[in-house]
Amino acid sequence: METKLKATEDIITSGAHVSLWTDTNPSVLSQPLKKSIKTDAVIIGGGIAGLTVAYTLCKRGVKVAVVEDGYIGSGESGRTTAHLVTSLDDRYYKIEKVYGEEGAKLAAESHAAAIDYIERIIQDEHIECDFKRIDGYLFLHPSDDEDALIKEKDAALKAGIKVEMVDFIPGMHRQEGKALKFPRQGEFHIMKYLNGLCAAILRMGGEIFTETHAEKIEENGIVSSDGFAIAADHIVVATNAPITSMYNLPLKQFAYRSYVIAGLIHKGEAPEALWWDTGDHDAHSDIKPYHYVRSAPYNDEYDLLISGGEDHPTGLAGGNGSSEEHRYDKLEAWTRDHFPIGEIVYKWSGQVMETMDCLAYIGRSPGDTHHHLYMVTGDSGNGMTHGTIAGMLIPDLILGVANKWKDLYEPSRFKFFKSGKTFLKENIDTLWGYFKTNPKNTDVAQLKELKKGEGIIVKLEKEKYGVYRDENGMLHWVSALCTHLKCIVKWNNDEKTWDCPCHGSRFSYKGEVMNGPANDALEYHTEKYPDFDKWDK
Ligand SMILES: Cc1cc2nc3c(=O)[nH]c(=O)nc-3n(C[C@H](O)[C@H](O)[C@H](O)COP(=O)(O)OP(=O)(O)OC[C@H]3O[C@@H](n4cnc5c(N)ncnc54)[C@H](O)[C@@H]3O)c2cc1C
Ligand code: FES
Repeated sequence: METKLKATEDIITSGAHVSLWTDTNPSVLSQPLKKSIKTDAVIIGGGIAGLTVAYTLCKRGVKVAVVEDGYIGSGESGRTTAHLVTSLDDRYYKIEKVYGEEGAKLAAESHAAAIDYIERIIQDEHIECDFKRIDGYLFLHPSDDEDALIKEKDAALKAGIKVEMVDFIPGMHRQEGKALKFPRQGEFHIMKYLNGLCAAILRMGGEIFTETHAEKIEENGIVSSDGFAIAADHIVVATNAPITSMYNLPLKQFAYRSYVIAGLIHKGEAPEALWWDTGDHDAHSDIKPYHYVRSAPYNDEYDLLISGGEDHPTGLAGGNGSSEEHRYDKLEAWTRDHFPIGEIVYKWSGQVMETMDCLAYIGRSPGDTHHHLYMVTGDSGNGMTHGTIAGMLIPDLILGVANKWKDLYEPSRFKFFKSGKTFLKENIDTLWGYFKTNPKNTDVAQLKELKKGEGIIVKLEKEKYGVYRDENGMLHWVSALCTHLKCIVKWNNDEKTWDCPCHGSRFSYKGEVMNGPANDALEYHTEKYPDFDKWDK
């Protein structure tokens, strides 16, 4: 499978693979912060969440500045598959158990409102981003209980979602029995949408600074790694993984890698629809990986079928055919079994933050005593809508307007009695996986065998290092200790990154942060070991 790769140091995207969205519509903005400024609200993160918060605040007369340390969409938004759904990943029957019938209704209503809001913004701002309302089909994974669809139908109806049981699923050449049909879901081209949001924000007087890392978050604003400050009355942390919470949030949510392939289909070969299975219930993790499929326009002759899944906890893919790189083969085999798909032209992976209790954390940052630090994290696989909900909820909180979703998404909530099993199992599995796979004494001599494009952990003078050999044969050394809570990172040979198995922080081979909760780079050591180049013949 020959698909597109891009050097990680370009930071146009958080990994070596380039998604369909970033390849066909990369962000055009490039303006770093070059002086200290003052504004009403500073928003950290140029993904869908940060930009939607910024857009709504601009609309309501609040002066904003967005800072993004890569480029627009270079985080998870550029790596999404952009299904816009009210058929939530975590199933309404589970959400009802945790939040009750009223809570499930509010969750359903907020996601429906998010799709409506996206549609309205697209119309108001004339954003051409291939937005469509289409039907979605949820079918049973062979490992799931037969009554799961009936339970979901009943709970979704109670939550106010339109849904019906159907016998036939259009577009699939392998039918998996009955399915739930969810009408009026949505899809779009995320990078076209984000570029449109940026244009609207700039037109309304908002400021956007790319290649600007928010290094310090202080009481009255932020300071960039270049030493420039943005003073602001309100700070919104929309960094996907939280960078202002060391323990509270990283322990309540779990980072999973998810994989995507996009293959050719003749125009009109598949109906426009979304398809999802109910997840592999034989999987060891408490969070069940599932498949998600849609199509998108490609060229005059072909569309692309975009298929995702084969998730695993970050840094813990496992060996023997289940490593990061092998996940695409499994995904391709599953997709070919169910859909007509030709040559694969894109593949990429990304990171999803699964919360212990099914919904995102959106609101005031826990421990914020100054009433001006807000956050959004925990996308739970529905980050397009959760990010948009943040874009409606956080501006209300900032402006002191009552919002009925506030308690549902409260970041400080801890539903131990309702979802403590997930909390315990995921945290214990992570720790166990970490200790089981943690290299104890990797011999530095193994460096001689390290192939170009690969990385390894080595121990030298009692310290552990991650060493990567680039395509020119040069070695790059980073400290192997994650800057969040000092777990040892693992090499992800697929995206050419150092991934932390504890809470999902990721770093480039030069140590730059790609995903939080870490916010500081790994120490980069190439020059500290000049002799190694001579030794390493
Ligand atoms: C493979 C995959 C498929 C998915 N499919 C779907 C789907 O079909 N539907 C759906 O609803 N959701 C989906 N999701 C989830 C969804 O894409 C994400 O949850 C969403 O894009 C996250 O948006 P965000 O704005 O919160 O984060 P991001 O897009 O990651 O934006 C955060 C930004 O913050 C920046 N940043 C971080 N730290 C700093 C700092 N200190 N200073 C400055 N900038 C900083 C990062 O560079 C990043 O660009 C999918 C996710 C993946 C990975
Ligand atoms: S992400 Fe928490 S220790 Fe690395």
